[in-house]
Amino acid sequence: MATRATTRRADRRAEERHARLLARGTDDHYEDAALYDFEYFDRSEDVEFYQELAHELAREQGRPLRILELGAGTGRITTVLLRDGHHLTALDRMAPMLARLEAKVVRPEERARLRIIEADMSAPPIDEGAFDLVIAPFNALMHLYEHATLLRCFAAARRGLVEGGTFAFDVLLPDLEWLMWDPDERHAVTAFVHPTTGEELIYSTNHTYDPGSQICHIRIFYDDAPRPGVDFDPPATPRRLVHLAHRQIFPEELRGLIAAAGLRLESLSGDFCGLPLVHGVESMVARCRR
Ligand SMILES: C[S@@+](CC[C@H](N)C(=O)[O-])C[C@H]1O[C@@H](n2cnc3c(N)ncnc32)[C@H](O)[C@@H]1O
Repeated sequence: MATRATTRRADRRAEERHARLLARGTDDHYEDAALYDFEYFDRSEDVEFYQELAHELAREQGRPLRILELGAGTGRITTVLLRDGHHLTALDRMAPMLARLEAKVVRPEERARLRIIEADMSAPPIDEGAFDLVIAPFNALMHLYEHATLLRCFAAARRGLVEGGTFAFDVLLPDLEWLMWDPDERHAVTAFVHPTTGEELIYSTNHTYDPGSQICHIRIFYDDAPRPGVDFDPPATPRRLVHLAHRQIFPEELRGLIAAAGLRLESLSGDFCGLPLVHGVESMVARCRR
């Protein structure tokens, strides 16, 4: 029979394993910033959405906006907003992502309107009322794994906004069917050439969903491409394994977080084109005001 001490030790080991998995799930995918840009180069609906939102608000204000981007990454969206004349504060916790963002902004006139902050978005070092618009694009908030951390981030976003300012973000609409897929199968099997190393690789993924924590642990495998004419058979040990952890946020929790942070929800819709949140919609897009 297990003693209380052995149970405690087993619990501690499980907690440590969980913490290690979350740490990798927060960092791994953002260590190779060039590969990140390569993998998402054709994602454009979100860029257009945030660009149009900023354009609409700037028209109302009659001037370019002061924008805070939480989880700015390699600047997929930041650089477009800078080009449109806005003032950007780009915050992220991953140095490789921010270095790539910085390298993209070469025009002195744009650099003068960009501030880069390496920090955690649940405790952003920003002044109260400093921004007209706060955005958190492309599932960045799904890296805040606990309700309390999410709430701290929402409250910080509100604090950073001027009275009447807008907080906009998108996260995945939880898809229960997808979350419960066989964790051992490989999906999205794709051959590609690594943009910097030139390696010929096979990309594939699978995932495990933990209903208790609402965290989906995604595994992205990079394996050597087989010789021409030979079918891909996943090896027991991948060449590289990237963990990506995504906290699922259900619509009612989202509405609750927005209200609890003292924000007013203006719209919550699907896939950057105003769809209702129905089965098949991938992203929930929220607009709220201070
Ligand atoms: C999916 S990427 C989105 C990047 C960029 N917004 C885009 O649309 O391409 C999520 C970003 O959030 C950042 N991130 C994750 N957790 C964070 C945290 N707690 N604080 C700040 N940044 C975080 C990651 O480093 C990553 O750059």
